[in-house]
Amino acid sequence: MRGRSVLLIIGGGIAAYKSLDLIRRLAERGVKTRAILTRAGAEFVTPLSVAALTTEKVYSDLFSLTDESEMGHIELSRAADLVVVAPATADLMGKLAGGLASDLASTALLATDKRILMAPAMNVRMWQSPSVRRSAETLARDGVLFVGPNDGEMACGEFGPGRMAEPLEIVAAIERALEIRGGALGGLKALVTAGPTQEPLDPVRFIANRSSGKQGYAIAAALAAAGADTVLVSGPVDIAASPHVKLVKVTTARDMLAACEAELPADIAVMSAAVADWRPDIAAGSKIKKGADHSIPTLKLVENPDILATLGHHRNRPRLVIGFAAETDDVLAHATAKRARKGADWIIANDVSTDDKGESVMGGDRNQVHLITATTQERWPQMAKADVARRLVQHITQHFQGTDS
Ligand SMILES: Cc1cc2nc3c(=O)[nH]c(=O)nc-3n(C[C@H](O)[C@H](O)[C@H](O)COP(=O)(O)O)c2cc1C
Repeated sequence: MRGRSVLLIIGGGIAAYKSLDLIRRLAERGVKTRAILTRAGAEFVTPLSVAALTTEKVYSDLFSLTDESEMGHIELSRAADLVVVAPATADLMGKLAGGLASDLASTALLATDKRILMAPAMNVRMWQSPSVRRSAETLARDGVLFVGPNDGEMACGEFGPGRMAEPLEIVAAIERALEIRGGALGGLKALVTAGPTQEPLDPVRFIANRSSGKQGYAIAAALAAAGADTVLVSGPVDIAASPHVKLVKVTTARDMLAACEAELPADIAVMSAAVADWRPDIAAGSKIKKGADHSIPTLKLVENPDILATLGHHRNRPRLVIGFAAETDDVLAHATAKRARKGADWIIANDVSTDDKGESVMGGDRNQVHLITATTQERWPQMAKADVARRLVQHITQHFQGTDS
Protein backbone atom coordinates (compact mmCIF):
# COMPACT_ATOMS: atom_id res chain seq x y z
CA MET A 1 0.00 0.00 0.00
CA ARG A 2 2.97 2.26 0.56
CA GLY A 3 2.99 5.22 -1.79
CA ARG A 4 -0.71 4.94 -2.66
CA SER A 5 -3.21 7.70 -1.93
CA VAL A 6 -6.81 7.88 -0.83
CA LEU A 7 -9.44 10.61 -1.00
CA LEU A 8 -11.41 10.18 2.22
CA ILE A 9 -14.92 11.65 2.34
CA ILE A 10 -16.10 12.01 5.93
CA GLY A 11 -19.90 12.21 6.18
CA GLY A 12 -22.05 13.45 9.03
CA GLY A 13 -22.43 10.57 11.46
CA ILE A 14 -21.24 9.81 14.95
CA ALA A 15 -18.85 7.24 13.47
CA ALA A 16 -16.85 10.12 11.95
CA TYR A 17 -14.57 9.95 15.00
CA LYS A 18 -13.40 6.50 13.80
CA SER A 19 -12.28 8.07 10.52
CA LEU A 20 -9.64 10.02 12.43
CA ASP A 21 -8.16 6.72 13.54
CA LEU A 22 -8.50 5.42 9.96
CA ILE A 23 -6.31 8.30 8.73
CA ARG A 24 -3.65 7.37 11.31
CA ARG A 25 -3.75 3.69 10.37
CA LEU A 26 -3.35 4.56 6.71
CA ALA A 27 -0.46 6.93 7.46
CA GLU A 28 1.29 4.13 9.41
CA ARG A 29 1.12 2.07 6.20
CA GLY A 30 2.51 4.84 4.02
CA VAL A 31 -0.85 5.75 2.45
CA LYS A 32 -1.41 9.45 1.90
CA THR A 33 -4.91 10.71 2.73
CA ARG A 34 -6.55 13.85 1.46
CA ALA A 35 -9.96 14.55 3.00
CA ILE A 36 -13.29 16.08 2.13
CA LEU A 37 -15.33 16.85 5.23
CA THR A 38 -19.04 17.40 4.60
CA ARG A 39 -20.82 20.25 6.35
CA ALA A 40 -22.56 17.67 8.57
CA GLY A 41 -19.29 15.79 9.07
CA ALA A 42 -17.79 18.98 10.54
CA GLU A 43 -20.45 18.83 13.28
CA PHE A 44 -18.84 15.60 14.49
CA VAL A 45 -15.09 16.06 13.92
CA THR A 46 -13.27 19.35 13.47
CA PRO A 47 -11.50 20.33 10.24
CA LEU A 48 -8.48 21.05 12.43
CA SER A 49 -8.22 17.42 13.63
CA VAL A 50 -8.58 16.12 10.07
CA ALA A 51 -6.00 18.59 8.74
CA ALA A 52 -3.55 17.75 11.54
CA LEU A 53 -3.83 14.02 10.89
CA THR A 54 -3.70 14.18 7.10
CA THR A 55 -1.09 16.97 7.19
CA GLU A 56 -3.09 18.41 4.30
CA LYS A 57 -5.65 21.07 3.73
CA VAL A 58 -9.21 19.80 4.30
CA TYR A 59 -11.75 20.42 1.55
CA SER A 60 -15.39 21.25 2.34
CA ASP A 61 -16.78 23.85 0.00
CA LEU A 62 -17.76 23.26 -3.64
CA PHE A 63 -17.74 26.96 -4.41
CA SER A 64 -14.46 27.94 -2.80
CA LEU A 65 -12.55 30.24 -5.10
CA THR A 66 -9.25 29.48 -3.39
CA ASP A 67 -9.70 25.70 -3.51
CA GLU A 68 -10.87 25.82 -7.10
CA SER A 69 -7.81 27.80 -8.19
CA GLU A 70 -5.44 25.52 -6.22
CA MET A 71 -7.02 22.18 -7.10
CA GLY A 72 -10.34 22.01 -8.93
CA HIS A 73 -13.05 19.67 -7.67
CA ILE A 74 -12.61 17.36 -10.67
CA GLU A 75 -8.87 17.07 -10.12
CA LEU A 76 -9.47 16.49 -6.41
CA SER A 77 -11.80 13.60 -7.28
CA ARG A 78 -9.19 11.94 -9.50
CA ALA A 79 -5.84 12.65 -7.90
CA ALA A 80 -6.06 9.72 -5.46
CA ASP A 81 -5.90 5.99 -6.25
CA LEU A 82 -9.17 5.29 -4.43
CA VAL A 83 -12.11 7.23 -3.01
CA VAL A 84 -13.23 6.08 0.45
CA VAL A 85 -16.45 7.29 2.06
CA ALA A 86 -16.41 6.76 5.84
CA PRO A 87 -18.84 7.17 7.38
CA ALA A 88 -21.05 6.78 4.30
CA THR A 89 -24.30 8.38 5.40
CA ALA A 90 -27.73 7.50 4.04
CA ASP A 91 -27.59 10.93 2.49
CA LEU A 92 -24.30 10.41 0.59
CA MET A 93 -25.38 6.95 -0.57
CA GLY A 94 -28.70 8.31 -1.81
CA LYS A 95 -27.05 11.22 -3.58
CA LEU A 96 -24.60 9.01 -5.47
CA ALA A 97 -27.26 6.41 -6.29
CA GLY A 98 -29.50 9.19 -7.59
CA GLY A 99 -26.80 11.09 -9.47
CA LEU A 100 -27.02 14.22 -7.35
CA ALA A 101 -24.15 16.66 -7.00
CA SER A 102 -25.28 19.28 -4.52
CA ASP A 103 -22.07 19.68 -2.51
CA LEU A 104 -18.35 19.01 -2.84
CA ALA A 105 -18.53 15.40 -1.56
CA SER A 106 -21.34 14.29 -3.87
CA THR A 107 -19.83 16.14 -6.84
CA ALA A 108 -16.46 14.46 -6.28
CA LEU A 109 -18.17 11.07 -6.05
CA LEU A 110 -19.89 11.59 -9.40
CA ALA A 111 -16.83 13.06 -11.10
CA THR A 112 -14.25 10.53 -10.01
CA ASP A 113 -12.77 8.04 -12.44
CA LYS A 114 -11.50 5.94 -9.51
CA ARG A 115 -13.05 3.07 -7.62
CA ILE A 116 -15.25 4.03 -4.65
CA LEU A 117 -15.30 2.15 -1.33
CA MET A 118 -18.09 2.97 1.11
CA ALA A 119 -18.21 2.21 4.84
CA PRO A 120 -21.86 2.88 5.72
CA ALA A 121 -22.86 3.89 9.22
CA MET A 122 -26.36 4.65 10.32
CA ASN A 123 -29.20 3.71 12.60
CA VAL A 124 -30.39 0.15 11.96
CA ARG A 125 -33.85 1.29 10.79
CA MET A 126 -32.27 3.72 8.38
CA TRP A 127 -30.02 0.96 7.01
CA GLN A 128 -33.00 -1.38 6.61
CA SER A 129 -35.32 1.20 5.07
CA PRO A 130 -36.41 0.33 1.52
CA SER A 131 -34.86 3.49 0.10
CA VAL A 132 -31.42 2.88 1.63
CA ARG A 133 -31.68 -0.76 0.46
CA ARG A 134 -32.35 0.56 -3.05
CA SER A 135 -29.39 2.95 -2.86
CA ALA A 136 -27.08 0.16 -1.65
CA GLU A 137 -28.22 -2.19 -4.42
CA THR A 138 -27.87 0.46 -7.12
CA LEU A 139 -24.41 1.42 -5.91
CA ALA A 140 -23.25 -2.21 -5.73
CA ARG A 141 -24.50 -2.76 -9.29
CA ASP A 142 -22.59 0.34 -10.38
CA GLY A 143 -19.38 -1.18 -9.02
CA VAL A 144 -19.14 0.67 -5.70
CA LEU A 145 -17.38 -1.50 -3.10
CA PHE A 146 -18.67 -1.81 0.47
CA VAL A 147 -17.16 -2.67 3.82
CA GLY A 148 -19.64 -3.25 6.65
CA PRO A 149 -21.82 -2.13 8.22
CA ASN A 150 -21.39 -4.47 11.17
CA ASP A 151 -23.96 -5.72 13.63
CA GLY A 152 -23.77 -4.34 17.13
CA GLU A 153 -24.99 -1.86 19.62
CA MET A 154 -25.30 1.57 18.08
CA ALA A 155 -24.66 5.02 19.51
CA CYS A 156 -28.45 5.55 19.46
CA GLY A 157 -28.92 2.53 21.78
CA GLU A 158 -30.51 0.24 19.16
CA PHE A 159 -28.97 -3.06 18.09
CA GLY A 160 -28.48 -4.46 14.58
CA PRO A 161 -26.62 -3.79 11.32
CA GLY A 162 -25.53 -0.18 10.93
CA ARG A 163 -22.29 0.19 12.88
CA MET A 164 -19.45 1.42 10.72
CA ALA A 165 -16.72 -1.15 10.11
CA GLU A 166 -13.70 -0.72 12.40
CA PRO A 167 -10.73 1.27 11.04
CA LEU A 168 -8.58 -1.84 10.58
CA GLU A 169 -11.38 -3.57 8.65
CA ILE A 170 -11.60 -0.52 6.41
CA VAL A 171 -7.81 -0.57 5.95
CA ALA A 172 -8.06 -4.24 4.84
CA ALA A 173 -10.85 -3.36 2.39
CA ILE A 174 -8.76 -0.47 1.04
CA GLU A 175 -5.85 -2.86 0.58
CA ARG A 176 -8.07 -5.25 -1.39
CA ALA A 177 -9.51 -2.44 -3.51
CA LEU A 178 -6.03 -1.12 -4.33
CA GLU A 179 -4.84 -4.62 -5.22
CA ILE A 180 -7.66 -4.93 -7.73
CA ARG A 181 -6.36 -1.81 -9.46
CA GLY A 182 -2.82 -3.08 -9.26
CA GLY A 183 -3.54 -6.37 -11.12
CA ALA A 184 -2.03 -7.41 -14.43
CA LEU A 185 -4.40 -5.09 -16.29
CA GLY A 186 -4.23 -2.27 -13.69
CA GLY A 187 -4.39 1.16 -15.28
CA LEU A 188 -6.25 -0.11 -18.37
CA LYS A 189 -9.89 0.56 -19.14
CA ALA A 190 -12.02 -2.22 -20.61
CA LEU A 191 -15.39 -1.92 -22.25
CA VAL A 192 -17.54 -5.05 -22.54
CA THR A 193 -20.96 -5.49 -24.10
CA ALA A 194 -23.24 -8.38 -23.23
CA GLY A 195 -26.72 -9.77 -23.67
CA PRO A 196 -29.30 -9.24 -26.38
CA THR A 197 -30.80 -5.97 -27.49
CA GLN A 198 -34.56 -5.48 -27.66
CA GLU A 199 -35.97 -3.58 -30.60
CA PRO A 200 -39.49 -2.33 -29.88
CA LEU A 201 -42.44 -2.84 -32.20
CA ASP A 202 -44.81 -1.09 -29.83
CA PRO A 203 -44.81 -0.48 -26.06
CA VAL A 204 -45.38 -4.18 -25.28
CA ARG A 205 -43.69 -6.10 -28.09
CA PHE A 206 -40.11 -6.30 -29.26
CA ILE A 207 -37.72 -8.28 -31.45
CA ALA A 208 -34.88 -9.89 -29.51
CA ASN A 209 -32.72 -13.03 -29.45
CA ARG A 210 -31.77 -15.83 -27.09
CA SER A 211 -28.52 -14.35 -25.77
CA SER A 212 -28.29 -14.78 -21.98
CA GLY A 213 -25.38 -12.38 -21.42
CA LYS A 214 -23.56 -15.01 -19.31
CA GLN A 215 -20.38 -15.03 -21.39
CA GLY A 216 -20.06 -11.23 -21.47
CA TYR A 217 -20.77 -10.90 -17.74
CA ALA A 218 -18.09 -13.51 -17.04
CA ILE A 219 -15.58 -11.66 -19.25
CA ALA A 220 -16.32 -8.34 -17.51
CA ALA A 221 -15.83 -9.98 -14.11
CA ALA A 222 -12.53 -11.57 -15.22
CA LEU A 223 -11.22 -8.29 -16.65
CA ALA A 224 -12.11 -6.47 -13.43
CA ALA A 225 -10.48 -9.21 -11.37
CA ALA A 226 -7.30 -8.68 -13.41
CA GLY A 227 -7.37 -5.01 -12.44
CA ALA A 228 -8.92 -3.40 -15.52
CA ASP A 229 -11.26 -0.54 -14.87
CA THR A 230 -14.23 -2.31 -16.46
CA VAL A 231 -17.49 -1.00 -17.85
CA LEU A 232 -20.16 -3.53 -18.81
CA VAL A 233 -22.80 -2.26 -21.22
CA SER A 234 -25.59 -4.79 -21.01
CA GLY A 235 -28.81 -5.43 -22.85
CA PRO A 236 -31.82 -6.66 -20.86
CA VAL A 237 -30.79 -9.78 -18.92
CA ASP A 238 -31.48 -10.86 -15.39
CA ILE A 239 -28.06 -11.79 -14.00
CA ALA A 240 -25.97 -10.02 -11.40
CA ALA A 241 -22.84 -8.21 -12.54
CA SER A 242 -19.60 -8.39 -10.57
CA PRO A 243 -19.59 -5.63 -7.96
CA HIS A 244 -16.23 -4.57 -9.40
CA VAL A 245 -17.60 -3.53 -12.78
CA LYS A 246 -19.53 -0.44 -13.70
CA LEU A 247 -22.81 -1.69 -15.18
CA VAL A 248 -24.64 0.38 -17.80
CA LYS A 249 -28.00 -1.10 -18.76
CA VAL A 250 -29.46 -0.41 -22.20
CA THR A 251 -32.32 -1.76 -24.31
CA THR A 252 -31.79 -1.12 -28.02
CA ALA A 253 -28.79 -1.40 -30.32
CA ARG A 254 -28.76 2.35 -30.73
CA ASP A 255 -28.69 2.86 -26.94
CA MET A 256 -25.87 0.31 -26.70
CA LEU A 257 -23.75 2.11 -29.29
CA ALA A 258 -24.32 5.47 -27.59
CA ALA A 259 -23.36 3.98 -24.19
CA CYS A 260 -20.18 2.47 -25.67
CA GLU A 261 -19.14 5.68 -27.39
CA ALA A 262 -19.72 7.58 -24.14
CA GLU A 263 -17.16 5.30 -22.46
CA LEU A 264 -14.37 5.97 -24.99
CA PRO A 265 -11.45 6.23 -24.80
CA ALA A 266 -10.86 2.68 -23.60
CA ASP A 267 -7.90 0.33 -24.01
CA ILE A 268 -9.80 -2.91 -24.50
CA ALA A 269 -13.20 -3.53 -26.10
CA VAL A 270 -14.84 -6.96 -25.92
CA MET A 271 -18.06 -6.87 -27.90
CA SER A 272 -19.91 -10.00 -26.88
CA ALA A 273 -23.48 -8.67 -27.03
CA ALA A 274 -25.86 -10.24 -29.54
CA VAL A 275 -26.89 -6.96 -31.09
CA ALA A 276 -30.01 -7.13 -33.26
CA ASP A 277 -29.02 -6.57 -36.88
CA TRP A 278 -32.36 -5.03 -37.68
CA ARG A 279 -35.15 -3.15 -35.94
CA PRO A 280 -38.72 -2.35 -36.93
CA ASP A 281 -38.65 0.90 -38.91
CA ILE A 282 -41.35 2.37 -36.68
CA ALA A 283 -41.98 1.62 -33.00
CA ALA A 284 -45.69 2.32 -32.57
CA GLY A 285 -46.49 4.67 -29.68
CA SER A 286 -49.43 2.54 -28.54
CA LYS A 287 -50.15 -1.18 -28.69
CA ILE A 288 -50.85 -2.39 -32.22
CA LYS A 289 -54.42 -3.75 -32.14
CA LYS A 290 -55.88 -6.71 -33.92
CA GLY A 291 -58.14 -5.34 -36.64
CA ALA A 292 -61.77 -6.48 -36.99
CA ASP A 293 -60.89 -7.66 -40.48
CA HIS A 294 -58.06 -9.87 -39.08
CA SER A 295 -55.54 -8.09 -41.28
CA ILE A 296 -51.96 -8.95 -40.37
CA PRO A 297 -49.51 -6.08 -39.90
CA THR A 298 -46.48 -6.05 -42.16
CA LEU A 299 -43.15 -5.51 -40.46
CA LYS A 300 -40.62 -3.39 -42.24
CA LEU A 301 -37.12 -3.74 -40.81
CA VAL A 302 -34.25 -1.27 -41.04
CA GLU A 303 -30.60 -1.90 -40.32
CA ASN A 304 -29.20 -1.19 -36.86
CA PRO A 305 -25.80 0.40 -36.35
CA ASP A 306 -22.93 -2.11 -36.30
CA ILE A 307 -21.33 -1.54 -32.90
CA LEU A 308 -18.25 -3.74 -33.44
CA ALA A 309 -17.49 -2.17 -36.84
CA THR A 310 -18.10 1.31 -35.46
CA LEU A 311 -15.59 0.80 -32.63
CA GLY A 312 -13.20 -1.10 -34.94
CA HIS A 313 -12.98 1.95 -37.21
CA HIS A 314 -13.49 4.64 -34.59
CA ARG A 315 -11.23 7.70 -34.35
CA ASN A 316 -10.97 6.81 -30.65
CA ARG A 317 -10.47 3.11 -31.40
CA PRO A 318 -9.58 0.99 -28.36
CA ARG A 319 -6.10 -0.51 -28.65
CA LEU A 320 -7.47 -4.05 -28.64
CA VAL A 321 -10.88 -4.68 -30.22
CA ILE A 322 -12.35 -8.15 -29.77
CA GLY A 323 -15.59 -9.22 -31.42
CA PHE A 324 -17.76 -12.28 -31.07
CA ALA A 325 -19.05 -14.21 -34.03
CA ALA A 326 -22.00 -16.42 -33.21
CA GLU A 327 -22.45 -18.59 -36.26
CA THR A 328 -24.56 -21.60 -37.09
CA ASP A 329 -22.59 -22.79 -40.11
CA ASP A 330 -19.12 -22.40 -41.61
CA VAL A 331 -18.05 -20.91 -38.28
CA LEU A 332 -14.36 -20.33 -39.02
CA ALA A 333 -14.76 -18.96 -42.54
CA HIS A 334 -17.45 -16.51 -41.48
CA ALA A 335 -15.57 -15.44 -38.37
CA THR A 336 -12.32 -14.86 -40.25
CA ALA A 337 -14.11 -12.69 -42.81
CA LYS A 338 -15.87 -10.84 -40.00
CA ARG A 339 -12.57 -9.99 -38.29
CA ALA A 340 -11.29 -8.12 -41.31
CA ARG A 341 -14.60 -6.52 -42.27
CA LYS A 342 -15.28 -5.12 -38.81
CA GLY A 343 -11.79 -3.83 -38.09
CA ALA A 344 -11.47 -6.15 -35.07
CA ASP A 345 -8.11 -7.45 -33.82
CA TRP A 346 -9.47 -10.74 -32.57
CA ILE A 347 -12.69 -12.66 -33.03
CA ILE A 348 -14.06 -15.24 -30.65
CA ALA A 349 -16.09 -17.55 -32.83
CA ASN A 350 -18.63 -19.99 -31.54
CA ASP A 351 -21.12 -22.34 -33.05
CA VAL A 352 -24.50 -21.45 -31.64
CA SER A 353 -26.50 -24.04 -33.54
CA THR A 354 -28.28 -26.53 -31.31
CA ASP A 355 -26.45 -29.82 -30.72
CA ASP A 356 -27.78 -33.39 -31.03
CA LYS A 357 -29.46 -33.04 -27.65
CA GLY A 358 -31.18 -29.85 -28.77
CA GLU A 359 -29.01 -27.68 -26.50
CA SER A 360 -27.48 -24.37 -27.54
CA VAL A 361 -24.60 -22.40 -26.02
CA MET A 362 -27.04 -19.49 -25.90
CA GLY A 363 -28.33 -19.56 -22.35
CA GLY A 364 -26.10 -22.49 -21.32
CA ASP A 365 -23.17 -22.36 -18.89
CA ARG A 366 -20.57 -23.84 -21.23
CA ASN A 367 -19.03 -22.65 -24.43
CA GLN A 368 -16.73 -23.97 -27.11
CA VAL A 369 -14.92 -21.23 -29.01
CA HIS A 370 -12.14 -20.46 -31.44
CA LEU A 371 -9.83 -17.48 -30.98
CA ILE A 372 -9.03 -15.94 -34.35
CA THR A 373 -6.31 -13.30 -34.64
CA ALA A 374 -4.58 -11.83 -37.70
CA THR A 375 -2.12 -14.72 -37.70
CA THR A 376 -3.57 -17.59 -35.66
CA GLN A 377 -6.65 -19.72 -35.17
CA GLU A 378 -6.89 -21.56 -31.85
CA ARG A 379 -9.58 -24.06 -31.00
CA TRP A 380 -10.32 -24.07 -27.28
CA PRO A 381 -11.91 -27.14 -25.72
CA GLN A 382 -15.44 -26.89 -24.44
CA MET A 383 -15.38 -25.29 -20.98
CA ALA A 384 -17.42 -23.25 -18.53
CA LYS A 385 -18.10 -19.70 -19.68
CA ALA A 386 -16.17 -18.41 -16.63
CA ASP A 387 -13.14 -20.42 -17.81
CA VAL A 388 -13.46 -19.07 -21.36
CA ALA A 389 -13.46 -15.61 -19.78
CA ARG A 390 -10.34 -16.29 -17.69
CA ARG A 391 -8.48 -17.76 -20.65
CA LEU A 392 -9.39 -14.79 -22.83
CA VAL A 393 -8.18 -12.40 -20.12
CA GLN A 394 -4.88 -14.31 -19.95
CA HIS A 395 -4.45 -13.71 -23.69
CA ILE A 396 -5.35 -10.04 -23.27
CA THR A 397 -2.79 -9.72 -20.46
CA GLN A 398 -0.09 -11.37 -22.59
CA HIS A 399 -0.99 -9.02 -25.44
CA PHE A 400 -0.50 -5.95 -23.26
CA GLN A 401 2.68 -7.33 -21.74
CA GLY A 402 3.95 -7.99 -25.25
CA THR A 403 4.42 -11.70 -24.57
CA ASP A 404 1.76 -13.19 -26.83
CA SER A 405 2.93 -15.16 -29.79
C1 LIG B 1 -26.46 13.22 16.22
C2 LIG B 1 -26.64 12.83 14.77
C3 LIG B 1 -26.11 11.65 14.34
C4 LIG B 1 -26.28 11.26 13.00
N1 LIG B 1 -25.75 10.06 12.59
C5 LIG B 1 -25.94 9.66 11.33
C6 LIG B 1 -25.41 8.43 10.90
O1 LIG B 1 -24.75 7.69 11.64
N2 LIG B 1 -25.65 8.03 9.63
C7 LIG B 1 -26.36 8.81 8.77
O2 LIG B 1 -26.56 8.38 7.63
N3 LIG B 1 -26.86 9.99 9.14
C8 LIG B 1 -26.67 10.45 10.40
N4 LIG B 1 -27.19 11.65 10.80
C9 LIG B 1 -27.88 12.49 9.82
C10 LIG B 1 -26.88 13.17 8.90
O3 LIG B 1 -25.95 13.94 9.66
C11 LIG B 1 -27.63 14.07 7.92
O4 LIG B 1 -28.41 13.26 7.07
C12 LIG B 1 -26.71 14.94 7.10
O5 LIG B 1 -27.49 15.72 6.21
C13 LIG B 1 -25.72 14.11 6.30
O6 LIG B 1 -24.93 14.95 5.51
P1 LIG B 1 -23.70 14.37 4.67
O7 LIG B 1 -24.18 13.16 4.01
O8 LIG B 1 -23.40 15.48 3.70
O9 LIG B 1 -22.57 14.18 5.60
C14 LIG B 1 -27.01 12.08 12.12
C15 LIG B 1 -27.52 13.29 12.58
C16 LIG B 1 -27.34 13.64 13.88
C17 LIG B 1 -27.90 14.95 14.36
